Amino acid sequence: MADMRPVDPNLVPKLKLKGGEKMPMIGMGTFGSDRYDAAQVAGAVRGAARAGYRLFDCASVYGNEALIGPVFAEIMGEGVSRDELFITSKVWNDMHGPGQAIASCEQTLRDLRLDYVDLFFVHWPFPNFHPKGAAPDYHNPDSRPFIIQEFMGVWQQLQTLKARGLTRHIGVSNMTIPKMELFLKECGEPPAAVEMEMHPCFQQEELLRYMVGHGIAPIGFCPLGSPERPERDVTPGDVSDMEHPVVQAIAAAHGVHPALVCLKWAVQRGHAAIPFSVRPEEYISNLRAVTEDPLTDQEMRAIKAVESGCRLVKGQVFLWGEHKDWRLLWDEDGAIAGW
Ligand SMILES: NC(=O)c1ccc[n+]([C@@H]2O[C@H](COP(=O)([O-])OP(=O)(O)OC[C@H]3O[C@@H](n4cnc5c(N)ncnc54)[C@H](OP(=O)(O)O)[C@@H]3O)[C@@H](O)[C@H]2O)c1
Repeated sequence: MADMRPVDPNLVPKLKLKGGEKMPMIGMGTFGSDRYDAAQVAGAVRGAARAGYRLFDCASVYGNEALIGPVFAEIMGEGVSRDELFITSKVWNDMHGPGQAIASCEQTLRDLRLDYVDLFFVHWPFPNFHPKGAAPDYHNPDSRPFIIQEFMGVWQQLQTLKARGLTRHIGVSNMTIPKMELFLKECGEPPAAVEMEMHPCFQQEELLRYMVGHGIAPIGFCPLGSPERPERDVTPGDVSDMEHPVVQAIAAAHGVHPALVCLKWAVQRGHAAIPFSVRPEEYISNLRAVTEDPLTDQEMRAIKAVESGCRLVKGQVFLWGEHKDWRLLWDEDGAIAGW
């Protein structure tokens, strides 16, 4: 029987951001993966907040901020103060032009019914557009590669948003070391946090160490291996984290679902994780998992060996020109891929 009691938010481990502010290390993802509608996700946010979640990972492209906003208002009406909450959002790839990132954040704030978000990200470092539910081979002829001058145009808008008090911190997402090397030289204000894919079968150890070494707080998305991800992100050879024999054996030893092993591992490894679920028994146990019964050092070492190089969110719909290989987006040969 799942323990459905709320979790004390004070027991949830915290990650320190530059400047000393603390962010919960488990948050609620809000991407419905084209499978759960906005009302279902908003309902899960309500349940999660009542269960003790304080970090919520939103984005304009998830198409549900306008329904999540009233839930935040409701939760605050129930006595959770704004400064107990840590709410993130992101500017989507089709709003990178002059003034557009600012307009996107302003719209997000209207939708979320907030005066400010805690952290505002550039969702992807490529300006482009693809329709909801796009096929894996969808190709937009206007897509563009990473161009530092264009990216700086977006980043400067995020700095303006911070100066105006519309976001308290600013961050990047889906970056690589070559892009970060160039960006950190130019950025003026460095990012406070990064969102990057991390789960046992895709640990991104080098990028994680790079981010931590630069004082950038790491947040891992798809922490459970995103079993419900959109079809376009499912490719032959993908490995399932929760079905991995090492993860399953550790789960059996602890008497828990493998999902909870993935989350304990993430937090003990030192990064935040933002699992998604609309099912109360899942999202409550996800939060509770990091407050009790930690993994042993030996189990942590065993999971290190689970690494399989299995990137799930490949981003192929963002390719530009005639390029067809999604690996190009991730600068795997150490150089930034361009036209
Ligand atoms: N910055 C970015 O570019 C980016 C990219 C991707 C995601 N994200 C963020 O990261 C969040 C999480 O990623 P995600 O939703 O793709 O994947 P995920 O959290 O790895 O997986 C979510 C799925 O795992 C299952 N699950 C959750 N808790 C479980 C439990 N305790 N036991 C068994 N199954 C469980 C649920 O399946 P069922 O629905 O079948 O229950 C749920 O749909 C997103 O919601 C979004 O906020 C950010």
